[in-house]
Amino acid sequence: MSDYVEVCSVDDIPDPGKRTVEIDEQFVVVFHVNGQFYCLDDVCTHDGGPLGEGSLEGFAIRCPRHGAQFDIRTGKALTMPATVDTRRHDVKVENGKVFVRLSR
Ligand code: FES
Repeated sequence: MSDYVEVCSVDDIPDPGKRTVEIDEQFVVVFHVNGQFYCLDDVCTHDGGPLGEGSLEGFAIRCPRHGAQFDIRTGKALTMPATVDTRRHDVKVENGKVFVRLSR
C-alpha cells in the first residue's frame, strides 16, 4: 500500500469544489464538499472522460463527455452510460493540509 502524499492545503479548494492533482504520474480529483474531502480517479469508466473537468452537484460528479455521474464518496457509478465504478482513494487532513493515499 502506498503512503499518504500531501496534495494541497485545505484552503486551496473551496467548499464545494474540486482540484485535479497528479500523484505518481496518475491524475486524481480531490473534492471538498460539506467540510469533507474525497478523492477519485480522474477517469470516467465509460470512455475515459476527465472527471475533474465535470460539474459537481452535491456528492455527485458529472462526466463532461456524456454525462455519467459518480458518487464522489465511493466512486460508485450512479447513472448511464457508466456502469462500472471508478476508483476512490483515501484522504486525510492534518494541520490544514490534504493528503491522498492511492489505492492500488
Ligand atoms: S466518457 Fe464519461 S460519460 Fe462517456
